[in-house]
Amino acid sequence: MSTDTRTVEPMVLSEATLARFAREVAKYPPDQKQSAVMACLAIVQQEQGWVSPAAELAVAQYLGMAPMAVHEVTTFYNMYNQQPVGRFKLNVCTNLPCALRDGAKTLRYLADKLGVEPGGTTADGCFTLQQSECLGACADAPVMLVNDRHMCSFMTPERLDQLIDGLRAAAAEDKA
Ligand code: FES
Repeated sequence: MSTDTRTVEPMVLSEATLARFAREVAKYPPDQKQSAVMACLAIVQQEQGWVSPAAELAVAQYLGMAPMAVHEVTTFYNMYNQQPVGRFKLNVCTNLPCALRDGAKTLRYLADKLGVEPGGTTADGCFTLQQSECLGACADAPVMLVNDRHMCSFMTPERLDQLIDGLRAAAAEDKA
């Protein structure tokens, strides 16, 4: 996804969002407020569910950065969603140490189980499945991360089944 400043209007930031941005910027010297870029993008994602080109532009304007510099941050870290994602984002590591211990098989198992290819979101909006780079837990392979926060280790098919059942139940409870 590209940030084309000729066609994108910056997202209008709410007072509450601006206040959160200000708290992050205050952690740095006045001439280094751009250091808050990751925190501001995380706030936008927390509030919107993803970082749209319009949000990137708003962050760039707020921090006095080139829009492309903000876009480079968004695209470098895979914790930032560049498109809307499902209720649960599942990142399965397929780097070499995990690949040697069924990382790719784990990704395929989930893809078949959920009926969605890596990068896609299930029709009910419950799961987004993604392939990821090393998650720093190679000894626990195969590993996966749920919603960028919860690390799941030694993910055998049985454990994957349990995890998906649990997440589906949680999603059903949310709707009840
Ligand atoms: S290679 Fe998978 S966690 Fe490091």
